Amino acid sequence: MAKILLSFSFVFLFLVSHSSQDPVPNPNANPKSSPTPVHAELTNFGFPIGLLPNSVLSYTLNQTSGDFSVDLGDACKITLPPDNYLATYSKKVTGKIVKGRIAEIDGIRVWAFFKWWSITGIRSSGDNLVFEVGMVTAKYPTKNFDASPACEGRHSSS
Ligand SMILES: *[C@@H]1O[C@H](CO)[C@@H](O)[C@H](O)[C@H]1NC(C)=O
Repeated sequence: MAKILLSFSFVFLFLVSHSSQDPVPNPNANPKSSPTPVHAELTNFGFPIGLLPNSVLSYTLNQTSGDFSVDLGDACKITLPPDNYLATYSKKVTGKIVKGRIAEIDGIRVWAFFKWWSITGIRSSGDNLVFEVGMVTAKYPTKNFDASPACEGRHSSS
């Protein structure tokens, strides 16, 4: 039980830290108005563009099954202010997307409490996003993910 509460509070903190308030735009983020095709695809499925970094090279999506694969070119690291939670995206992020729900996610992790936690699913619920870390979920306002974050510390490519 304590472990679950701990996990929950971590997800909550992660999400809160990701939520820099509206008046302070991230200068590295893509403006909402000019998403890339993959970000537009997120929007089509009812998700905000901020779920993916702004450095997507290519992606595939099977419109029938919802299976997708996103190629970021390299692993991507994002530090989430103000508490400096570290989130990583693998070079390749895969999963299954349908309207309002992303499942079987592989490739998105967050470092907290001395271990990596995999985000396994994301659901859209009204004005909120529900993040799933295994059995634990946390809800957070969708509007906090309106901007697509930039990757940090890229060194091996470009
Ligand atoms: C897309 O998904 C459907 C249903 O799972 C499958 O039958 C089809 O072969 C897939 N198409 C491609 C190009 O993988």
